[in-house]
Amino acid sequence: MTKLLFVCLGNICRSPAAEDIMREMIRKAGAAEKVKCDSCGTSAYHIGAPADSRMQAHAQKRGYELTSLSRPFNDLKDFERFDYIFVMDPQNYDDVTAMAPTKKHLQKVKRMTDFCTEMTADYVPDPYYGGDAGFEKVLNILEDACSGVLEMLKRENRI
Ligand code: 4NP
Repeated sequence: MTKLLFVCLGNICRSPAAEDIMREMIRKAGAAEKVKCDSCGTSAYHIGAPADSRMQAHAQKRGYELTSLSRPFNDLKDFERFDYIFVMDPQNYDDVTAMAPTKKHLQKVKRMTDFCTEMTADYVPDPYYGGDAGFEKVLNILEDACSGVLEMLKRENRI
């Protein structure tokens, strides 16, 4: 079983969307029993909250149901439990890597946009204070990046 963790700041916009897009792609690839997806935030601002209603609405139009509830990153447990930790932006990268207990754990941390093959984004921008276009952009980047993650999992014989 390979375990993937998606991390953003609040765990109510970007990472819940990444979690569900990835889960759906893995299901379509027939690998639901081989890969598990989860998400969390570097902050505890929204602990227990479902995904932002705007993110849910935009995701639903593309057929994704966002079901996760916000939880904060747990440095020791999450670094142990997950095989790959995907972060959305440079602040997330700095916050998560600063908590890595060893170099082996540090190497689990990946930038989500490094898996894009069609879009040229350097990071997944925080859509929280913006409008509809920001949410659509997040979904466009995440769909591209999740396809890249799926290919990486195939190359590494994880699925
Ligand atoms: P997320 O978006 O990190 O993609 O979940 C945000 C959600 C909430 C806040 C910031 C970003 N906030 O400041 O409350």
